[in-house]
Amino acid sequence: MKPKVYITRKVPAEIVTKIEDYCQVRMWDEADIPVPRAVLEEEIKDVEGLFCLLTENIDRELLGKAEQLKVISNMAVGYNNVDIKAAKEKGITVTNTPGVLTETTADLTFALLMAASRRLIESSDYLRSGNWKTWSPMQLTGQDIYGATLGIIGMGRIGASLAKRARGFDMDILYYNRSRKYDLEEELNLTFTEMDSLLKQSDFICIMTPYTPETKNLIGSRELSLMKNTAILINTARGGIVNEEALFHALKKGEIWAAGLDVFEQEPVSLDHPLLSLPNVVTLPHIGSASIKTRMKMADLAADNLLLVLQNQSPKHVVV
Ligand code: DGY
Repeated sequence: MKPKVYITRKVPAEIVTKIEDYCQVRMWDEADIPVPRAVLEEEIKDVEGLFCLLTENIDRELLGKAEQLKVISNMAVGYNNVDIKAAKEKGITVTNTPGVLTETTADLTFALLMAASRRLIESSDYLRSGNWKTWSPMQLTGQDIYGATLGIIGMGRIGASLAKRARGFDMDILYYNRSRKYDLEEELNLTFTEMDSLLKQSDFICIMTPYTPETKNLIGSRELSLMKNTAILINTARGGIVNEEALFHALKKGEIWAAGLDVFEQEPVSLDHPLLSLPNVVTLPHIGSASIKTRMKMADLAADNLLLVLQNQSPKHVVV
């Protein structure tokens, strides 16, 4: 008997075929609508494998309904949507997809940094809405990137790739991480700096750390008040790392200059969210890893992880 697997979103046909070679597959067949919780609660009951996305809340209550589950394969590097402790207690392997999305996410982070500092979206809207009457000296002026100081919070794979891009812009690079990365300091000319000092010195602050109970609201009103009033905050990690209310007030009061956000505490973000009312915030719908090649690689890696566990082999990337 082939093991049963549930896939929580429509994924490309070749990924389904690959899993079907070894498994009986059921799938939520919608590309842009998440599987309803009640459906997931039913589907999880008899499957050995779950292929899921960051939009699914795989909590203790849900896992309580899983009677056969051996593996949760999350198609994301972040796994804050999975109750790791509950999975571990039940002996369920949890896997993720690091590595394959590193460069694509670093590209998007740098793009967001550039868009926020040079007011790209605002400028485009200005032109399209018919406001461009002439060229003038201080019209739509932004902040320089070249030669500025970049502070990276979290020096994992994506943080290091972002630093490589920043080298090309002759930026001074500070970083804060729980443990020092001496090899990267050497290779990329990075300076390890305590958090408060990084916040005070940086022109750009990029959040590149995983979302855990320790990093929830890591950036709140105190941290924002330490930043330069010309500082630009970029978050492509997880929304909950930044206190959004504090960020709104800091931007509104001019305590910091702008923000670029690819992620929000609640996704999709509500259209009446205060941050969306500010012209100095560039907002994106969580597209850090969204290139065609990278999303295919993530889906393929998630399929490999799932299959390897079901074949009693070690997955390529295990969380627990
Ligand atoms: C992840 O993988 O955790 C990203 O947020 C989506 O690619």
